[in-house]
Amino acid sequence: MRLLRRMLRLFVIGRADGVRRRVARAVTGNFWPSEPVPTPSAPVAPVAPPPVDREGWTDVGAWSELEHSGLMEVRVAGEPVALALIDGEAHAVSNTCLHAGGPLAEGTVEGHAIVCPYHGWSYDLTNGRCLVDDQLALARYEVRRTAGRIALRQATAASGPPVQPPAG
Ligand code: FES
Repeated sequence: MRLLRRMLRLFVIGRADGVRRRVARAVTGNFWPSEPVPTPSAPVAPVAPPPVDREGWTDVGAWSELEHSGLMEVRVAGEPVALALIDGEAHAVSNTCLHAGGPLAEGTVEGHAIVCPYHGWSYDLTNGRCLVDDQLALARYEVRRTAGRIALRQATAASGPPVQPPAG
């Protein structure tokens, strides 16, 4: 008897298609429901990062977009990168100013230099060198143009974390 009760509890009572559920549905007039028993929903897939090929190139957008803007911010492995067009050639450096973290892609391009919008520090886009302090250099990225697309790959490491702005 005890075993029978245990078996009933295990296999019939409490199940989605068990006796208790069917009785409850009979009361509400839906004894044989046509809809399937709900199952837990599948987890939502995370947003895919930009495609990176085997050689480490990350597709960051269309060449026409860069031609249109001349200077834009893109992301490589989650890092912000300033991408600029100078004389028809694209150059890419870290988007984070080494002075106090200003967003370089919101600045301006003057000749071969990119000028930070915050306090005016400038960097040579061709090699990443800081034109205010020659001890500093931005991380640079190699640029590849293929079939109207732009791909970037990190070329050099940054010279260090941003320094704090001078007091006053
Ligand atoms: S943060 Fe770029 S010059 Fe100050």
